[in-house]
Amino acid sequence: MSTPQKVAVVSGAAQGLGAAVADELASRGMRIVVVDINGEGGTESARKIAERHGVDAFAVELDVADADALDRLAERVLAEYGRVDVLINAAGIAEDAETLDVTNETLQRVIQVNLFGTIVACRAFAPALIETKGAIVNFSSIAALAGVRPEHHVAYDATKSGVIAATRTLAVEWAPHGVRVNAIAPGYSATPILDGVGANTPEIMDAWISQVPQRRLMQPSEIAKVVAFLASDDAVAITGQTVPADGGYLAAK
Ligand SMILES: NC(=O)c1ccc[n+]([C@@H]2O[C@H](COP(=O)([O-])OP(=O)(O)OC[C@H]3O[C@@H](n4cnc5c(N)ncnc54)[C@H](O)[C@@H]3O)[C@@H](O)[C@H]2O)c1
Repeated sequence: MSTPQKVAVVSGAAQGLGAAVADELASRGMRIVVVDINGEGGTESARKIAERHGVDAFAVELDVADADALDRLAERVLAEYGRVDVLINAAGIAEDAETLDVTNETLQRVIQVNLFGTIVACRAFAPALIETKGAIVNFSSIAALAGVRPEHHVAYDATKSGVIAATRTLAVEWAPHGVRVNAIAPGYSATPILDGVGANTPEIMDAWISQVPQRRLMQPSEIAKVVAFLASDDAVAITGQTVPADGGYLAAK
């Protein structure tokens, strides 16, 4: 009997780290569901992945803060592909504001997308993942594990700490069902999210890189390989953990 082709659902996969993870998982033969609030970018990302790796891929435009939409998505993926093996929660946003100046709306939106969105996505896909004894990888950040500088984003940092706690809790809750839940904590990585927190200001870029022992930004493909490992059977003994991939940033703190 041939092994069934695995299915991965990847949020935030229109660009950046999510797109790199979707590409890496497709290179390992998985069918891919690209989930992103950017519908056009998601469609283009799914098209490229399908073309490059010869796997099925489709895109769904969706706000991960919409819990009902995630429930409908889980039904749709099961209807189209019949199974879900991997869930990657990479969709995320960061505010760029000093805490004395940040608006309530901004704080609430960051919490809704990064923390609520991650938890409700895990819940929506858990029944399908229990069927396949699948794996989840959530996106935390070095900003959950150290006070980052010189930029300011208190809601971002708090939500990424919340993702670590949710990852641990869900790992313990779902281990008896055979589902593993881990998180990655990337260091500063070369994606568009950094443009919103100062990447175009040379002094800020220099300040980031000077704090990284490897003296560079992480590349999306490097983060993707760690995520793919955590999602794979090679990581069967690992659950409830948050793995930094940061060029030594946290080790030097
Ligand atoms: N790049 C870094 O330095 C870095 C470091 C640590 C953690 N992270 C985390 O990695 C993840 C990916 O970040 P990135 O660097 O690729 O950023 P990015 O901005 O390049 O990509 C984020 C993607 O998420 C999508 N998205 C945003 N809000 C959404 C929503 N409500 N619903 C659905 N999709 C939504 C965006 O459209 C985009 O395609 C994020 O969770 C981020 O916090 C990034």
